[in-house]
Amino acid sequence: MITPNLLEAKKRSNKKPTLIDNYDIPNSLKTLGLNKKYYVRTYGCQMNEHDGENIKAILEQMSYTETLVMEKADLILLNTCAIRENAQDKVFGMIGRIKHLKESRPEVVAGICGCMAQEEEVVNTILKKYKWLDIVFGTHNINNLPNIINNSIIKNSLEVEVYSIEGDIIENIPTKRQSNYKAWINIMFGCDKFCTYCIVPYTRGKQRSRLPEYIIKEAEDLVKDGYQEITLLGQNVNAYGKDLDINYKMENLLEAVAKTNINRIRFVTSHPWDFSDEMIEIMKKYKNIMPSIHLPLQSGSNRILKLMGRRYTKEDYLILYNKIKEALPYSSITTDIIVGFPNETKEDFEETIDLVNKCKFDGAFSFIFSPRIGTPAAKMEDNVSSEEKSERLQVLQALVNNYVIENNSKYIDKIVPVLIEDFSRKDKSILIGYTDTMKLVKIKANEDIIGTIQNVKITAYNAHNLDGIIVK
Ligand code: SAH
Ligand code: SF4
Ligand code: F3S
Repeated sequence: MITPNLLEAKKRSNKKPTLIDNYDIPNSLKTLGLNKKYYVRTYGCQMNEHDGENIKAILEQMSYTETLVMEKADLILLNTCAIRENAQDKVFGMIGRIKHLKESRPEVVAGICGCMAQEEEVVNTILKKYKWLDIVFGTHNINNLPNIINNSIIKNSLEVEVYSIEGDIIENIPTKRQSNYKAWINIMFGCDKFCTYCIVPYTRGKQRSRLPEYIIKEAEDLVKDGYQEITLLGQNVNAYGKDLDINYKMENLLEAVAKTNINRIRFVTSHPWDFSDEMIEIMKKYKNIMPSIHLPLQSGSNRILKLMGRRYTKEDYLILYNKIKEALPYSSITTDIIVGFPNETKEDFEETIDLVNKCKFDGAFSFIFSPRIGTPAAKMEDNVSSEEKSERLQVLQALVNNYVIENNSKYIDKIVPVLIEDFSRKDKSILIGYTDTMKLVKIKANEDIIGTIQNVKITAYNAHNLDGIIVK
């Protein structure tokens, strides 16, 4: 049993990550899942979604087949997120449902992985209260999944394998992509920013950039397979390359990926700290880099930003924002905001509102601060009531909504490129897709255009999406 250790997870050494590019699974385990079904449910960010794609592919190498109905599965995995308490509560709710299922079908193998599995506190709770689970494995242990499952089956007991060390870079793990048109590519793992509220540097380890040649090869293969869009993933993509021995930064990578001639490139997430002028230049130069940027603000108060350890001021943020808008006037900018950080005053909150008024974002994910065990902010004294925090969140969300509507209204009668992705879930006669600026568009059209980029004339809008018609 290898359990997580928060103190270990916090450490950063100068040791370079080991590159492992001969990933394989033992022959004897390639048929372990024959005639068995798996169910994988993923929570959290795109990086976790992409891990879910790796996990599914590994299970299929073991001959398991996918089911979307948990009750029909022989193997159940919850790929979890630890970013806020409510994300964790959802998972504990699901664990309750699994317990029920295992009472009637004890042979079902059930486990949790992802960021919650990296938390000492969570694993201790599992060992105390949910010992009937079969496997727990961490974000650094995905490559060993076949052995973890096998060990649990052989021993008929809970198998825990969670490394808290910084993590290696494992290339060539297979991927079962969710879409045939859009693909995620990890360009880096981990995070070294240690924003004081955030659990990610503990659950994902030290920042490790993948070597450019592996990323470019992956992009080229996706182009060959007919993919239209690639999203480069990392907790802080603008810091890409800073940990490599070669002089190769995010702007170099963006340019190299743009030259593969993939139709659309996106990247998330951008920390304002590392967003360079060179990146803006490259975005201007290559039309296949989409003019849509997610630029988390977190707070508009310099006092709070400092307490958060974000290392930029409100003024720095505005300068960067204006620079991007000047270079790319058509671009859309979205953000993340936390309200109710410990001791956030009314004045602090008003500063955030002021920045939202200045930036008129195209969208914002906003959250109430959630203390995460082991992070510095969780220990900060807090005198703001939860009612006050909820109220601030509502005020903020209403304001953001107004700007989203205002921005969306500007699309009326414009013709924009849309990658048509799927049917609308509610109405099969409607197709959905995203503009270059990442606006969701609903279109009444025939399904044969799914997977293509079409010119769409925008005919209506609301706070959630645009409506449009195909123009030739
Ligand atoms: N790496 C990204 C953020 C990833 S987490 C960045 O630095 O921008 C996604 C968002 O969750 C964050 O931007 C933040 O707004 C929110 N978040 C993170 N930790 C949180 C916490 N403890 N409480 C509330 N929101 C949090
Ligand atoms: Fe968390 Fe900050 Fe790293 Fe983003 S940059 S993942 S908010 S520590
Ligand atoms: Fe959640 Fe882990 Fe992503 S905490 S947001 S799944 S990196």
